[in-house]
Amino acid sequence: MNFGNIPDDVIAAVLKYHEIVEVVSKYVHLAKQGRNFKGLCPFHSEKSPSFTVSPDKQIFNCFGCGTAGNAIKFVMEIEGLTFPEAVRQLAEEADIPIGWESAPAEETAGQKEKRLIIEGHELAAKWYNYLLKNSELGKPAMEYLRGRGFTDRMIDEFQIGYSPPMWDKLCQFLNSRNINLAIMEKGGLVSANSEGNGYLDRFRDRIMFPIRDARGRTVAFAGRVLKEAQPKYLNTPETVLFNKSSILYNLDRAKSSIRKSRKAVLFEGYADVIKAWDAGAANGVATMGTALTEEHARVLKRFADEVIVCYDGDDAGQAAAFKSLALLERSGCNAQVAILPGRMDPDEYISVNGAQKFLSEIINSAVPSTKFKLIYLQRNHILQKDEGKLKYIQEALKIIAELHSPTEREHYVKELSHDFQYSIQSLNEQLHQIREQLQKKKNFGDNKENSWNNVMNDRRTEKTSPVLLPAFHNAERKLLAVMMEDADVALYVREQLGDRFNVEAHAALAAYLYAYYADGNEPDASRYMATLHNEQLEKVASSIAMTDSTGGINDKVIDDYIREIKKYPQLAALELKKEEIARAERAGDVIRAAQIASEIISLERQLKTL
Ligand code: UTP
Ligand code: MN
Repeated sequence: MNFGNIPDDVIAAVLKYHEIVEVVSKYVHLAKQGRNFKGLCPFHSEKSPSFTVSPDKQIFNCFGCGTAGNAIKFVMEIEGLTFPEAVRQLAEEADIPIGWESAPAEETAGQKEKRLIIEGHELAAKWYNYLLKNSELGKPAMEYLRGRGFTDRMIDEFQIGYSPPMWDKLCQFLNSRNINLAIMEKGGLVSANSEGNGYLDRFRDRIMFPIRDARGRTVAFAGRVLKEAQPKYLNTPETVLFNKSSILYNLDRAKSSIRKSRKAVLFEGYADVIKAWDAGAANGVATMGTALTEEHARVLKRFADEVIVCYDGDDAGQAAAFKSLALLERSGCNAQVAILPGRMDPDEYISVNGAQKFLSEIINSAVPSTKFKLIYLQRNHILQKDEGKLKYIQEALKIIAELHSPTEREHYVKELSHDFQYSIQSLNEQLHQIREQLQKKKNFGDNKENSWNNVMNDRRTEKTSPVLLPAFHNAERKLLAVMMEDADVALYVREQLGDRFNVEAHAALAAYLYAYYADGNEPDASRYMATLHNEQLEKVASSIAMTDSTGGINDKVIDDYIREIKKYPQLAALELKKEEIARAERAGDVIRAAQIASEIISLERQLKTL
């Protein structure tokens, strides 16, 4: 990626304007603790705060999951933006002119195409919505929507529209607005006619639901027929902007509410999302005619810790809900299931029972994922016969065995024992066996699917917990910490040590720091980190800046650190030689042993001169 387009002074101005505590506080509740602020990390689920923001250094760091960086990085992570996008957003908020974009040559052909596709979709959404609300043609559609309980408020909020039954009405309209139809074909809004000499509307005589991406840009449509016909919903095909396995309907509008409560509700249908929103659940999203994917789950996890799956009450819906649980859990979300009675879907339930009941009896009465899995299993076993019962017990224990918490396991074992009249003791014995097998599989590392909630460990690379680091490691960190605060020290280290840091990341950080000062910049951890453009390095830099206190480090201490760092490769070589000599002696190779002994002596001499 090329970051060179964004002028340094724009980045500097953005970081200067946006105080990090203020930026973070928009999303995370922070409390002052000493020089820093602490809160619950928005990037992983935790019960006690390990997310730290330093107003002095203008950086944040989570000691739990290791996410770290400056204000730009925080916005990237929390809003799901790229570096240039985050800089642009922050620059706009601060009224800082964005110089790097004004040159038209800098928009690539691909970017231009995307921009035009979005413009065409946004224009079409307005047009469809206008036709629904204001035209004769739109009347039957409006009646249909009214019949299903769609109010003006819902129609306006979701910009619902109507596509007329003619072949190319939209094409004509787009033409009159000088929209390039060839590009719109790529965007899935129109299709080429069979002669290949013109274009036709893709959507005809359908209720139109605009689909927006997470940033609120209209990138696709879903069109529903008014009568019984197939397909019931016609969706935009996959395009450069519309990827069904990652886009969630309504995420753009739901995300602030999800972020606040750390809870999302996952529906199957557009109508469900809209009706639930009207009923007061603003945190609803839906997949689009596809099963939930790993990507969807990852997107959800960015905003939510808890996902309530609220699928249709029919068999297909319940089976899909069952499948979604493993995916959600693997992404690190805590999953629950809101069960609808009969075979209703959320939309019908709300129409029949009203908003209050929907919120209290369905959403707020969602059952934990384990409970649902057990209920679901019961449905699929014939429990009247002993054989079916035993099979069910075995399957149920497998689910219970996956649980992390002993008290939760005990709870469900007790329930099983009560419901099926088996002793707790025999159930526990069987459970124990299953867990042992699971453990074995896990040790072989082939059981990733079942490993409980270890997203945190996956993300952690540089151990930030207080482990005992070797002396040189500590010396390198301390030195970098001082160098970040003092350009003269950095210059001195550059002369004395250059890139001879033993940890690769430290050597890279030093190189970036030398370059940062060489450009005439003042010490500023946050600005320095904006030059890294590498998540690993940002994490290490941030952890050093936050944890390694530089108090009491004088010139002598700095020299000691440098010596410690230089010494390490020799010490390591010495260690190797000592092993080698022991081997030679064991093998009775006297000559080789003598050779190595003299090498050791010279290495030791070198070490003394350092
Ligand atoms: P449903 O058939 O449950 O639709 O499919 P629904 O949401 O209840 O629709 P209404 O209430 O009858 O209008 C659930 C979802 O599956 C996708 C759509 O995303 C729909 O909302 N779907 C369904 C399609 O993409 N195409 C179809 O033909 C049918
Ligand atoms: Mn449905």
